[in-house]
Amino acid sequence: MLKSQGLGSSIGVAPVTLRHMQTSLARRRNIDGSALVPYQNNNDLQKKLRGIKIKNNDNNGGLRLMSGPSGTIKAALATATELTTSVITKVVVKKITGEITSSTIIKENQLATQKVLQLGFASILTDPSTGAEKPPIMVQANLIHEDVVEEIYVAKLEVPSNFGEIGAVIVENFNQKEMFIKEVDLDGLTSGSLTIPCNSWVQPKTVDPTQRVFFTNKSYLPSQTPAGLISMREAELVNLRGNGTGERQSYDRIYDYDVYNDLGDPNKNEDLKRPVLGGPTRPYPRRCRTGRPPCQTDPQSEQKAKGSIYVPRDETFSDIKQAQFNASTLLSVLRTIIPNLQVHFDRNAGFPNFESIDALFDVDGFNLPPLESTTSFKDLLPWIFKLISETGEFFLRFQIPEPMDRNKFFWLSDEEFARQTLAGLNPHSIQLVTEWPLTSQLDPAVYGPPESAFKTLNIDRQIGSMTVQEAIEKKKLFILDYHDLLLPYVQPVRALKGTTLYGSRTLFFLDEDGTLRPLAIELTRPPMDGKPQWKRVYEPSEKATSLWLWRFAKAHVLAHDAGYHQLVSHWLRTHCAVEPYVIATNRQLSAMHPIYRLLHPHFRYTMEINASARSTLIDAGGIIESTFSPLKYSMELSSSAYDLQWQFDLQALPADLIHRGLAEEDPTASHGLKLHIKDYPYANDGLILWDALKQWVTEYVNHYYPSSYLVTSDTELQAWWNEIRTKGHADKQNEPWWPVLNTPQDLIDIVTSIAWVASAHHAAVNFGQYAYSGYFPNRPSITRTNMPTEDYNPTLWKSFLEKPEDLLLNSFPSQYQATQVMFTLNVLSSHSPDEEYLGKNMEPSWNDNPAIKAAFERFSARLKELELIIDTRNVDPILKNRTGAGVTPYELLKPLSGPGVTGKGVPYSISI
Ligand SMILES: [Fe+2]
Repeated sequence: MLKSQGLGSSIGVAPVTLRHMQTSLARRRNIDGSALVPYQNNNDLQKKLRGIKIKNNDNNGGLRLMSGPSGTIKAALATATELTTSVITKVVVKKITGEITSSTIIKENQLATQKVLQLGFASILTDPSTGAEKPPIMVQANLIHEDVVEEIYVAKLEVPSNFGEIGAVIVENFNQKEMFIKEVDLDGLTSGSLTIPCNSWVQPKTVDPTQRVFFTNKSYLPSQTPAGLISMREAELVNLRGNGTGERQSYDRIYDYDVYNDLGDPNKNEDLKRPVLGGPTRPYPRRCRTGRPPCQTDPQSEQKAKGSIYVPRDETFSDIKQAQFNASTLLSVLRTIIPNLQVHFDRNAGFPNFESIDALFDVDGFNLPPLESTTSFKDLLPWIFKLISETGEFFLRFQIPEPMDRNKFFWLSDEEFARQTLAGLNPHSIQLVTEWPLTSQLDPAVYGPPESAFKTLNIDRQIGSMTVQEAIEKKKLFILDYHDLLLPYVQPVRALKGTTLYGSRTLFFLDEDGTLRPLAIELTRPPMDGKPQWKRVYEPSEKATSLWLWRFAKAHVLAHDAGYHQLVSHWLRTHCAVEPYVIATNRQLSAMHPIYRLLHPHFRYTMEINASARSTLIDAGGIIESTFSPLKYSMELSSSAYDLQWQFDLQALPADLIHRGLAEEDPTASHGLKLHIKDYPYANDGLILWDALKQWVTEYVNHYYPSSYLVTSDTELQAWWNEIRTKGHADKQNEPWWPVLNTPQDLIDIVTSIAWVASAHHAAVNFGQYAYSGYFPNRPSITRTNMPTEDYNPTLWKSFLEKPEDLLLNSFPSQYQATQVMFTLNVLSSHSPDEEYLGKNMEPSWNDNPAIKAAFERFSARLKELELIIDTRNVDPILKNRTGAGVTPYELLKPLSGPGVTGKGVPYSISI
């Protein structure tokens, strides 16, 4: 046994099983009482580490630890009877810079006298004499260095020559605070140096007595797990699943499922009661279970969280992430700033004129009331805030959105209206028309006659060059169809103050130059309040009255599209649908599972941003409910869309395009798809990205799964896929469209779809939010008044004829609503300074495997090519949906970006 003062003590090979290690370590702990002298800088640390010389001495079977120049390391001579190798281990602990979650529960009398970590190094082998796992080599690592960002703990261990390869390290924190363990390094192994990445919080033993195990970078399918690691692999998953009971604490790391029953706050106010989303009545994906108690006033609802909503500890990186630019802090900015907007902006009144809207973008900004933390806001979002340091005044300023900067009148243009269905914020709704006449699938007894009001002759006239039937045959007629989804909400929404709603259909024709041209809009109100169904068609026109009615109708459709984008294309299809994948992956796939390691970067920070969204954005009375047309029914509408439209197999880009009639399979075409709109920027760029992603996933999966048998026999993988279907998306579990998981190709398709949704799909609908909605006449989040042609009112009609602009402004969001949305979307469109972009950084486990490393490098190179391809496309005059005078180029799927609101950049995961 070796001892070294100040460096850490080798405890040697313990005669215990892993299961008993925790108690054994606690009993055997023998902390050196000598005072710790922190080193002043890294040079001191390097000197310290350089001073340790390890000499193998195969002749006498012992090892020597030589003293260094500092003289603080005492020489020690190994006296082991068996051949051993002396190894230095170094633990890197990131310092906490923000909130310290668990420290508050540590009692004063639990303070340790010296900071130490207990480490247990586990062999991949079992003991040949017993068949049981080999006892781990246990050492006590002492703190030898600390600075403002990290602590270094070091120990020396003796590794017997027959110990076998180290497969895992068990870290036990006997200190008073939780610690973020970045990595454990081993230097001196006969096989070379070894780094075990951890990047995880380890709680004090007094808080969480379960063992923390970190596996090396080698990935194993369950059946291929080295015998010495099998029980640890299984035990770790059991810990992560929890037992489904109890209220989760901030330091827990348990992943479990629950329904969305936490959006309301009935204890506070009956008006804030909301239905449960998730279940047969209102199907919805599941969210992370927090276990908070039910409300007294509504046992179906969970009580509001008193502080932050629970997410498993490793899902929140707020304490260490650079500049604290993360979900929690950003949404706290929203909570702080938005109420103060009322100082300048009327809660109910619209903007009096367009000049007052333009004034929002005044470079001087708006002086906000004195706020706490104004300096940190300025650091966090320098593009939004400025602080006049001489006076201490604090200003909020809105950037001019790019499309407005390029063309102030962009929002009035019909061509731009159509272009944005292909290259704007919501490229997921445009569909091919395949049948004529259009009819509703809703119950006529409730919603009135199902036939559309579009008249064939009128549409023929609008098309000009061909008939409707010819246009359908030539795949040139397209539609934004918000009829059947919205119509059931019209009556309840109209019962609310300050909003209205219609079912809507908008037809487009594909012109010869590859651009879409709007033909007509149909707005429908169902029978209600004793009145029959009302529907009317509006067409583009040069005539004054018709032109203004067209503008009104467009405003309604844009509000429908804005709501659908936010509640379905963005929240439901990305943030919300992905959370069950995150939960299932952590519950069913070991951290050493190759698919866990492939997906992990795609899940970073998603649970945290979703929890923050549940507390600030989508909660009852939150920003979404205050500013979008369906108001309090917004989330129910999202549930309806999930019920009627969401299918896992349609989340893949090619399947989505085919389903919407935008493409058909064609083996001779690039990407195997023939696009019916050739200049469809989202699809054009997206298919290159999709192919690159799929190729990377294919090479990765094929490396680990050379046969279908390995897929079907992978117990973790099968449990994972089963749980996604039956628990995470439980309300859809019996749908026939779920892919089976029997072959490597099945796995490639499933994983590519998940990775695509978390990266490219989310980027396409997220980072352009401020660009296209920042100037709200382009995409009002709400229209507050009915069409002046509905239910003829002579006074209203007279006002419309006299000053239509005033009526339109009055229908747009109120001043307070508009500025809330502008501010929120600016924050949500921002990249952090340390954003992790797709293909940019390699995961350690990928880097350690030559075949995977090479595949990733090919993936990364292809994404770099995509950057250039997008730049080239954006200056190609033939591509009129992304080039032209005043036209905003399409960059939303450009993989890389700088920080801030840039309108480009594809992060790995949904983190904002
Ligand atoms: Fe988002």
